Amino acid sequence: MSSFTVELLLNFKSYPLPKYIWNIAKNSTRAERLSCAASVVALLLCTALIVYFTVLAKKSDVNAVDRAPHPWNITREMWRARPSPNNATVERFSPVKLVIIQHSVSPECHRFTICAAEIRNLQSYFLDSPGLGYDLPYNFAIGNDGRVYRIRGWNREGAHTAPYNRCSVGIGFIGDYREDLTVHSRVTDLQLKRLNLIIQEGVDRGYLRPDYSILGARDVISTYSPGDNLYKAIQALDHYDTTNYRGLTCEQIQEMSEKEDP
Ligand SMILES: *[C@@H]1O[C@H](CO)[C@@H](O)[C@H](O)[C@H]1NC(C)=O
Ligand SMILES: *[C@@H]1O[C@H](CO)[C@@H](O)[C@H](O)[C@H]1NC(C)=O
Repeated sequence: MSSFTVELLLNFKSYPLPKYIWNIAKNSTRAERLSCAASVVALLLCTALIVYFTVLAKKSDVNAVDRAPHPWNITREMWRARPSPNNATVERFSPVKLVIIQHSVSPECHRFTICAAEIRNLQSYFLDSPGLGYDLPYNFAIGNDGRVYRIRGWNREGAHTAPYNRCSVGIGFIGDYREDLTVHSRVTDLQLKRLNLIIQEGVDRGYLRPDYSILGARDVISTYSPGDNLYKAIQALDHYDTTNYRGLTCEQIQEMSEKEDP
């Protein structure tokens, strides 16, 4: 303690406010002093409680439990999809060669309830907009929560990357991954891990060729999708394919890959 502080403490009775309080205390009865002390204690207790619960509320908001009906595999029933008008089984190539990655250019979602609500909104946009009137275009979507949301699934043709929907599976990452935006989505390891899980399901069930190729939508059609951040991430994956498929038909792409078979 500095000598100044010591001096301040020793002489506190000579300062105006402490002096005033000291005088009141001196002229008060014991009962008055006690009740005053009690109110001060009560006041301090209330303040402490308010601080405690404010901190607690903030904490529980950050760590809010993100419960989902499945750790990552979210069916249409789970995200409460509306019935699809595009549920006819269209004849498409099977197994398909391409896995085409897109981004949704919509707000990020980091929790199941938020992701499910956002995907329902996106679906309603596609179903209800004049001139659209079809189900969400992707076969699967991946939220920023790292979960896979089953959209059209394996059996139904997507509407994400015409004219390659018949020979591809379209996977839409929720968010906007354009790096030229000051605030943009960043792909996470968890999202890439879950991408791998859903692709593996497709290979195991015979919907995807085991020598499948991962592409960004911009590799085959003119679009900025899936945005630089996501595009760089998929270019680093083992199955990313540098073959130029642009301008080829689905028939040509499938034929090419069948010829490559050992
Ligand atoms: C995910 O759920 C669907 C629907 O229940 C099921 O058909 C599929 O096999 C599941 N995938 C995995 C990898 O568990
Ligand atoms: C297929 O779509 C029609 C029209 O929206 C709907 O009534 C029907 O329930 C759907 N069937 C399945 C199996 O989803």
